[in-house]
Amino acid sequence: MARKVQFVETVLRDANQSLIATRLPFDKFEPMLETIDKAGFYAAECWGGATFDVCLRYLHEDPWERLRKIRAKLPNTKLQMLLRGQNVLGYSHYPDDFVKLFVKKAVENGMDVIRIFDALNDVNNMKVAMEATVNAGAIASGTISYTTSPVHTHAKYVQMVKELKEMGAATICIKDMAGIMGPQEAYDLVCAIKDAVDLPIDLHTHSTTGLAFMTYLKAVEAGCDIIDTAISPFSGGTSQPATETLAYALRQLGYQVDLDDNCLITMADYFKGIRDGFIEDGTLIPKALATDTQCLTYQVPGGMLSNLMTQLRNRNALDRFEEVLAETPKVRADMGYPPLVTPTSQMVGVQAVNNVIDGQRYKTVSKEIKAYCRGEYGRTPAPIDPAIRAGILGDEQPLTGRYADSLEPIVEPTRKKLEGIARSDEDVLSYIAFPNLAEKFFQERKEKEEDEVTYTIVEC
Ligand code: CO
Repeated sequence: MARKVQFVETVLRDANQSLIATRLPFDKFEPMLETIDKAGFYAAECWGGATFDVCLRYLHEDPWERLRKIRAKLPNTKLQMLLRGQNVLGYSHYPDDFVKLFVKKAVENGMDVIRIFDALNDVNNMKVAMEATVNAGAIASGTISYTTSPVHTHAKYVQMVKELKEMGAATICIKDMAGIMGPQEAYDLVCAIKDAVDLPIDLHTHSTTGLAFMTYLKAVEAGCDIIDTAISPFSGGTSQPATETLAYALRQLGYQVDLDDNCLITMADYFKGIRDGFIEDGTLIPKALATDTQCLTYQVPGGMLSNLMTQLRNRNALDRFEEVLAETPKVRADMGYPPLVTPTSQMVGVQAVNNVIDGQRYKTVSKEIKAYCRGEYGRTPAPIDPAIRAGILGDEQPLTGRYADSLEPIVEPTRKKLEGIARSDEDVLSYIAFPNLAEKFFQERKEKEEDEVTYTIVEC
C-alpha cells in the first residue's frame, strides 16, 4: 500500500507571519475555517509564534478568544501552535510556573499539538514545556532548530532527538526556519533520525531559497511523515511551499495524500482575494514572495536580512550592508554557533551592526548579548569565545545551571496585582507575556464594553 504523507497547513500562522507580519485578523479568515476543517490536514498551525503578540499589539484581538473561536469552527482538525520553550512566546526566559500554566491553558482553550523548540537546541529549556504538554494530554512535538555549522552534526541532532523522546515527544519536528536545508541534507538527517527513534517526523521549511519543494520530496523519500505547507496564494518566498503543488507531486510519485482537492480549490480562491488586498495596501511586499539565494551564501535567514537593512537604514548606514553581512557569521561563531532564530537572530544581527558601525568589535554590547554570555539563554552549541566572553562579562561569572531555576514564581503575584483587572488566568498570562500591551488591551476592552452599554441605552 502506498505510504501516507500528511500535511500541516500554515496559512493561519507561519505563512501569515512570514508574508504579512501576522496581520491577518480573525474576521478575514473566519469564512474559510469550515473548509480548512474538511480539507483533511494533519493539523492547522494557527497560534503561537508572533500571533499572540500581534493580536494584542495591532489587531485588538484577545489571542485566547481567537483560539477558542478557531477551535469552535475546526472540530475535526488538530490545532497546532509554536512555542519557544522556556521563552514561551517572548524573547527571554520565564519562570516555570508561567510556562506550565500557559501550556495548560493553551490546551484547555483548544490546542492539540504544541511544537516546542529552543533557539539554542538546549533541551533543558524545553523540558518544562514538554512535560506540561504531556500532562495536559496534548501532543508534544519536540523540535530541532535546524542550522549548519562545524558543531551541528547529525550525531548531535540524533542525540537531541533521543532526549526529546525521553521527555515525552510524540512527534519530532525538524524546523528549518531559514530554508537553507538542501534535499540531500534532508534525506540524510531524516534517515539518521528514523534509524534512532520510532516517532513520526515532521519537516518544516521555508521557500526562501527555492530549495523547499526538492527538500520535501527527498525528506519524504527518506521516511518523513508530515510536511508543512501553505495554500498557494500564501505560499512561496519567505513562506512555505504550496500545499496543492506538493499534494499533486506526491500523489504522482505514488504516495497517499488524503487531502480534499475541492476544499483546497475553495481555500485558494478565497485566500487569493485576501492576499491581493494585502498587496494593494502594501502589507505584502513583492520581495517577500521572491526567491532569494543570499541565505545560502551568508547563512543568514531571510527575515534577518530585512531586519539588518532596517537597522542600517535607521542609523543612516545602508552602505555598510555588505560589511554587516560578512560580520554576522563571525559574531555567530564567536557566540558558539547559535541557530539564527528568534531571539538569537536579533541578538547576533544587532551585534554585527554595532561591530561594523563602531569600527571596533564588541565595543557596544546589548543587554541581551550580555545575558547570553552569562548563560541566561542556556547552553550554547559550542563554547563562546573565552576572550570575547571575558571582555563582555568582566569579573562576572557565567551561570552553570538552568537560568529559569533562579527565577521566582510569577503567576500568583501577578494574579494578586491584577485583582479587579484580570478576568481570568488567560488575562494573567497575557499580562505576564506582554504587560504593556495587555494592560492597554484590558483598558480598550472595558471602554468598548462601556460604549456598547451606552449604545444599548440610547437604543431603548
Ligand atoms: Co517557520
